[in-house]
Amino acid sequence: MSLLRTASALKTAASSTVKFNAVRGITTAAPSVTQTFNGQKKENGNYTVTLIPGDGIGPEIAESVKRIFAAAKAPVDWEEVDVTPIIKDGKTAIPQDAIDSVRRSTVALKGPLATPIGKGHVSLNLTLRRTFNLYANVRPCRSVQGYKTPYENVDTVLIRENTEGEYSGIEHEVVNGVVQSIKLITKEASERVARYAFTHAESVGRDKVTAVHKANIMKLSDGLFLDVCRQVAKEFPHIKFDEVLLDRACLHIVSDPSLYADTVMVMPNLYGDILSDMCAGLIGGLGLTPSGNIGRDASIFEAVHGTAPDIAGQDKANPTALLLSGIMMLRHMRLTDQAANIEQAVFKTIAEGHALTADLGGRSSNTQYTNAVIQNLKV
Ligand SMILES: NC(=O)c1ccc[n+]([C@@H]2O[C@H](COP(=O)([O-])OP(=O)(O)OC[C@H]3O[C@@H](n4cnc5c(N)ncnc54)[C@H](O)[C@@H]3O)[C@@H](O)[C@H]2O)c1
Repeated sequence: MSLLRTASALKTAASSTVKFNAVRGITTAAPSVTQTFNGQKKENGNYTVTLIPGDGIGPEIAESVKRIFAAAKAPVDWEEVDVTPIIKDGKTAIPQDAIDSVRRSTVALKGPLATPIGKGHVSLNLTLRRTFNLYANVRPCRSVQGYKTPYENVDTVLIRENTEGEYSGIEHEVVNGVVQSIKLITKEASERVARYAFTHAESVGRDKVTAVHKANIMKLSDGLFLDVCRQVAKEFPHIKFDEVLLDRACLHIVSDPSLYADTVMVMPNLYGDILSDMCAGLIGGLGLTPSGNIGRDASIFEAVHGTAPDIAGQDKANPTALLLSGIMMLRHMRLTDQAANIEQAVFKTIAEGHALTADLGGRSSNTQYTNAVIQNLKV
């Protein structure tokens, strides 16, 4: 195919993208969506939380969280559901019971899920995100005292737009040898994630929000994202707002992560995916990194690591990431005392260093680590 034909094919597709964008979303007035927990306290004083133990090491680390929460007297009744995918009309779907449970409780803790390989299966994680419109992914990364890495001063909070951008799944072959993947950015999705970033900054006591972007190159798409962030910033005059290019942010973070210890970073989907794993690497990897997926109707908290099939069923898994995700969830539910108690017990256990699992350089089992955390609870 000639270069001329390729250029013309891309030009045609590009102009249809602009039209598509113009039709979809950009002109829509964005609702002011920020998520707060809506679960109802039951007669026994507890809240129902959906638990998705997941696959591989999931059930083992979920058991550890249940034991620690019970010992800390966290007012939670678990409703355990299975999300083994079903195929509905040729597509991967989540069993209705699981969907109903999350809708009722409005909050869930989720272990890792194996993505089935083969036709007809899409990632279950992606399916959950779409089913519950989980629009913001929150990833805090803080250096863990007692677990040495080359960086001792990491304290980043990153919020990733979770529903569109490069992950919209709009891809096609323009002509043989030329494919296009459309990065979709809408005012509506940008506005709700930006607004969530500001309210999250308020709730975690940070007085700055930083938009991370490449609007110098992607003038329309990242330009819109950035512009919306600037507009939303005006609603929060007590919170500072600044902007940084993605490449500059990466350089800053690996040079001196403390430069971002006072802010909440907010960014489009792909940048957040990469930057959040980079921050996780600075504190010792995915085994120590929690995350929360915030939606309007429900929020799902999960460890970011996978099912670790190589150690599943051997009592070797480190439950810390799921535990820290559970702590984020308790804070989301405004159960701050229980969250603080479990958090101090986890960090004390890691700092003591007697009961560490193999991934943290120790020799203890998941059960021994869990027992040590329970010992360190203040009850
Ligand atoms: N959020 C999720 O549900 C999620 C995320 C990533 C991968 N996955 C799925 O998990 C499966 C395996 O993926 P993978 O092997 O690429 O990544 P993985 O995270 O499962 O494992 C990578 C390495 O880290 C270790 N590891 C991970 N979590 C650990 C823990 N808590 N304690 C101790 N060691 C731990 C594993 O033993 C392995 O050596 C795949 O099916 C993948 O699709 C799911």
